[in-house]
Amino acid sequence: MEFIKRELREIKGKGLYRSLRLIEGEQGPEISLDGKRVVILCSNNYLGLANHPRLKEAAIEAVKRYGCGSGASRLISGNMELHQELESKIASFKHTEAALAFSSGYLCNIGVIGSLMGEGDLILSDELNHASIVDGCRLSRARVEIYPHKDLNVLEEKLKRLKGYRRKLIVTDGVFSMDGDLAPLPGIVELAEKYKATTMVDEAHATGVMGKGGRGCVEYFGLEGQIDVQMGTLGKALGSFGAYIAGRRELIDFLINQTRSFIYTTALPPPVCAAAIAALEIVTQDHQLRNRLWENAEFLREGLRSLKLPAVNSETPIIPIIIGRSSTTMKAGDILLQYGVYAQGIRPPTVPEGCSCLRTTVMATHNREHLTRALEAFKAVKKELER
Ligand SMILES: Cc1ncc(COP(=O)(O)O)c(C=O)c1O
Repeated sequence: MEFIKRELREIKGKGLYRSLRLIEGEQGPEISLDGKRVVILCSNNYLGLANHPRLKEAAIEAVKRYGCGSGASRLISGNMELHQELESKIASFKHTEAALAFSSGYLCNIGVIGSLMGEGDLILSDELNHASIVDGCRLSRARVEIYPHKDLNVLEEKLKRLKGYRRKLIVTDGVFSMDGDLAPLPGIVELAEKYKATTMVDEAHATGVMGKGGRGCVEYFGLEGQIDVQMGTLGKALGSFGAYIAGRRELIDFLINQTRSFIYTTALPPPVCAAAIAALEIVTQDHQLRNRLWENAEFLREGLRSLKLPAVNSETPIIPIIIGRSSTTMKAGDILLQYGVYAQGIRPPTVPEGCSCLRTTVMATHNREHLTRALEAFKAVKKELER
């Protein structure tokens, strides 16, 4: 086990050591972090649903009625009423024929990509796609071609040049999880039609956030019915846990039969399903929450820009401040904390070398006082770093 100590030392030496921080109490816009009250600016709980009374109540009721666990995988004896209800709610929310729930977004991506694509196939993947997509591509054993971020010209050149593959898949995040920018979905759909490729979009950060109805980037770009595989998560804006694929009935039947990360894992627990169902009802009925989220995002983005902090490319409630060096990024995070604001530094390998950032995210439940405090803290960070 000597190698463990050695490698840990190396990680520390590079300033890339990660450790867990303790959050006590609920996931609100303010949290207790390692015993200190701070404004949280790095949660994916965009709509503040993780501690919403309706979700809590639904989860408690589900525990009383169905218990805590599902006891088995879906295809053995774990398929419960709440799974069916959740999937039918997701399908009607996403305007698709059917949907399938997964135990997490990571499991969903690593399993689904590999069941759609295999040896002799070609996957085209954006260079900034989430790690779960990267791992899904690797596990599939298909040839994987990475195209530069959002570059439709290179994507087309690859589609044109790489011939003789059994099937082709273009896969992209809808909202990119670190940069908060949007995939050029209309262009991707056009190319997929032209070169007969299947399309898959990861709506993890778009579900509940993008589009008038909160249905994601596919709705936002008016492309409903034109993307083959829509993946999304239930643990971010929807405040619960798990993930889904929404699409045609035959796609879902295929995945039930072929996706190892669906087949060989225990089904989602009843309270998690019930909370996700309640969240879908709120997202469908209450557009105010989403409006507030977007107002807050604009307020923070503008504030950061007027401080001359580069809120690069962001078009969504994810607003990264690129610092560059890992050690400087962590120092900036420490200064924020002194001012009572928490934004976790993001370092390689999550982002490319030299692109470490403070990835800030706003929530619908932040009030102006929270965001003003955040801007004050960033002002101090800037001053300190410029010294
Ligand atoms: C774009 C993207 N896809 C997939 C995932 C994985 O989802 P989950 O946290 O449910 O595993 C995440 C984040 O965690 C993500 O940001």
